[in-house]
Amino acid sequence: MNSLVIVGTQWGDEGKGKITNALSSCAEMVIRYQGGANAGHTVSVSGEPLVFHLLPSGISVPGVRCVLGPGVVIDPESLVAEIEMVRGRGIDVGANLLIDVGAHMVLPYHKTQEAAEEHARGGAAIGTTRRGIGPTCADRVARDGFAIGELARFDDFRERFVATAERKNELLTRLHGADPIDIDAETERLRALAPKLAPHLEDTPRLVRRAIADGRNVIFEGAQGTLLDISHGTYPYVTSSNTSAAGVSAGTGVPPSMIGEVMGVAKAYVTRVGEGPFPTETTGEAGALLRERGGEIGSTTGRPRRCGWLDTVALRYAVELNGIRRLIVTKLDVLDALETIPVAVAYEIGDRTVDRFPRSIEELAAASPVYEELPGWQTSTREARTEAQLPKNALAYLRRIEKLAGAEVAAASVGAAAHAVVEFAEIL
Ligand code: IMP
Repeated sequence: MNSLVIVGTQWGDEGKGKITNALSSCAEMVIRYQGGANAGHTVSVSGEPLVFHLLPSGISVPGVRCVLGPGVVIDPESLVAEIEMVRGRGIDVGANLLIDVGAHMVLPYHKTQEAAEEHARGGAAIGTTRRGIGPTCADRVARDGFAIGELARFDDFRERFVATAERKNELLTRLHGADPIDIDAETERLRALAPKLAPHLEDTPRLVRRAIADGRNVIFEGAQGTLLDISHGTYPYVTSSNTSAAGVSAGTGVPPSMIGEVMGVAKAYVTRVGEGPFPTETTGEAGALLRERGGEIGSTTGRPRRCGWLDTVALRYAVELNGIRRLIVTKLDVLDALETIPVAVAYEIGDRTVDRFPRSIEELAAASPVYEELPGWQTSTREARTEAQLPKNALAYLRRIEKLAGAEVAAASVGAAAHAVVEFAEIL
């Protein structure tokens, strides 16, 4: 099958954007299927980093049609700002951006609601990106949301928006003691944004199905990572969508039978932003080294990312859940300086040693990793482009990951530049 899913195997920030961008030149379409502007996909364009929050990571590649599928939640203002930002960098999205009419909108009260709810959670806050994702997804499921296609019939939209916003203002002011949104001003703001988005609105599932049926290469670009999946992640410390490959069909309108390979992206170590258990987190000198060498600062929120060692218990879970046969390992070069590299192979939970990822958050919080120490290579991998150019121990590290994760490593990324990749096999 000529369709490929790029999915994160950890808690997001695995480097999916770079991989998707690199593969886009062989693709006809790149489709986001879930999430929203909570994502931050960094790609290198003409040697300079560019961060996409909503736009698919193929947008900088001429001729690639980029789709925001029905499963994405779109903040219209952020999207218009992002289109203008990339235009400033010489990329005209023009007819290449297709927005599904059924994708839901993040509206101003969603962000206020989220901030108030996070505040009310106190010590149990999730540490969200404050992009309004949770309340938007909740409203959608509660059948109280707004699809972006509704902007095309603005008068009808306005009537329902005003009535809904009045109810939301009651909630914000009475329950949360927050400021109400200015409904008239927000209505006018949306009215001004509507014509900028209108040319991009489409029935995208039909177009994607047709592209696949015609034998074109199509990439489904995951946002966040498997462990943040609403159904299969570390609930409640998750995002509000199916980030795993399970989300592709619902989020794009493409039947499971048209979905080809699921390729997993795993960082050579692990990071997490926001709250929630993280068994292999390392906070001392080693954590600081990973953060500094890996530039581990959130690209959406600017928060420092929590850093830790590769967790193959979690990786195996992601491999099985997504049906991953091949992995791309990113940021291998970040480990270049280390003498030895711990890799978690099991957890100790109470008096038990387990090699499966716990489904209960309490068990995960109680898990302490059992590490295997692998020898480092203490040589730069940044210039390596072939298997033979990798230090012996770096190759051994990748081979050990394959064995522990139960999937082949198809490529390893060794730097931020698009070409800084060692390919072991053809990917698309
Ligand atoms: P939300 O998606 O903003 O609701 O945040 C829920 C959780 O997912 C928080 O822990 C966020 O830090 C995390 N999260 C959301 N998007 C990303 C991402 O793109 N990368 C990494 N973590 C993310």
